[in-house]
Amino acid sequence: MMKLLVTGGAGYVGSHTVRVLCRAGHDVTVFDNLSQGHRQAVDAAATFVDGDLGDAGAVESVFAGGSFDGVLHFAGSLNVGESVAQPLSYYRNNVVCSVNLLEAMERHHVRRMVFSSTCATYGQVDGTPVTEETAQVPISPYGRSKLAIEWAMRDSVAAWGLGCTALRYFNAAGAAADGGLGEDHDPEIHLIPIILEVAAGKRDHIQIFGDDYPTPDGTCVRDYVHVDDLAEVHRLAIETQVAGDFRAFNVGTGLGSSVKQVVDAARDVTGHPIPAVHVERRPGDPAIIYADASKAQEHLNWTPEYRSLSDIIATAWAWHRQHPNGFDG
Ligand code: UFG
Repeated sequence: MMKLLVTGGAGYVGSHTVRVLCRAGHDVTVFDNLSQGHRQAVDAAATFVDGDLGDAGAVESVFAGGSFDGVLHFAGSLNVGESVAQPLSYYRNNVVCSVNLLEAMERHHVRRMVFSSTCATYGQVDGTPVTEETAQVPISPYGRSKLAIEWAMRDSVAAWGLGCTALRYFNAAGAAADGGLGEDHDPEIHLIPIILEVAAGKRDHIQIFGDDYPTPDGTCVRDYVHVDDLAEVHRLAIETQVAGDFRAFNVGTGLGSSVKQVVDAARDVTGHPIPAVHVERRPGDPAIIYADASKAQEHLNWTPEYRSLSDIIATAWAWHRQHPNGFDG
């Protein structure tokens, strides 16, 4: 059993991970300002602290009362387009807040951490599977803010013995198999939940951003990984983390799916025709990005349970039907 602090534990990936950690017997404290997360998403077995990482005093007091063995750091902003329009808010909310957290960890000798990084740190890639050695040249303020945090962590590993795993997520998708947790962003920006809003009658159609990419069907290819599989890799990472070591793992299935394939799979799952309209490319989208996830399999013994797009979408659809207005409904 470990005593764990989870920042952003009321968010999408955070809340699924908190549940996995609680079920594994860990003692979990969630620290979240509820700017994007949902109080109802926090497992009843976890302690909840309504706090902001930008408030160094609040961070200090949670550590002073904690004796934590480790930290899982999910809190942050994640909208790529918004980061282009408001870069400084991304540097503040992602980089400055992470520095506050790291400073408190150093003061309190907490030397184990898992960090929510992203495939957006790689930027425009060449269409072959992305390994952890692929050069990180992010093309958005969001991606750059996440890469800056990785470097603050690596430098802390060398300077004061932090042990840290950066999990570079590909496209998180789906919902807990039992329907108890799911994805609820406001505004919704991700492909699968937007498609399901069409199936649920909340939107008329889905816009497909670009159909002239150099891909088999002309639409962008991504690697969709189930949120419960993501949750599990966090548990494996924190349980095996040692002080003084930095690790980075891509977290994807290794399978690429095009936007058209996602829409088709959602049509099968929902039985809804899901009208699609082809529009211009969205600036900044790489044509193809999918993971070589063999390192996580080898080093963490992690194998994603969900390998079929339809199965992933089915879990998201079950959540949407049971919670048409998300957590607040
Ligand atoms: N898409 C559409 N129509 C929509 C929404 C999305 O065609 O209405 C397309 C996008 O162009 C993209 C794919 O669906 O090709 C997936 O888009 P998402 O917005 O769901 O996800 P992204 O691949 O853009 O984003 C993910 C993560 C980000 C991360 C990024 C890095 O969610 O955190 O990968 O590429 F920064």
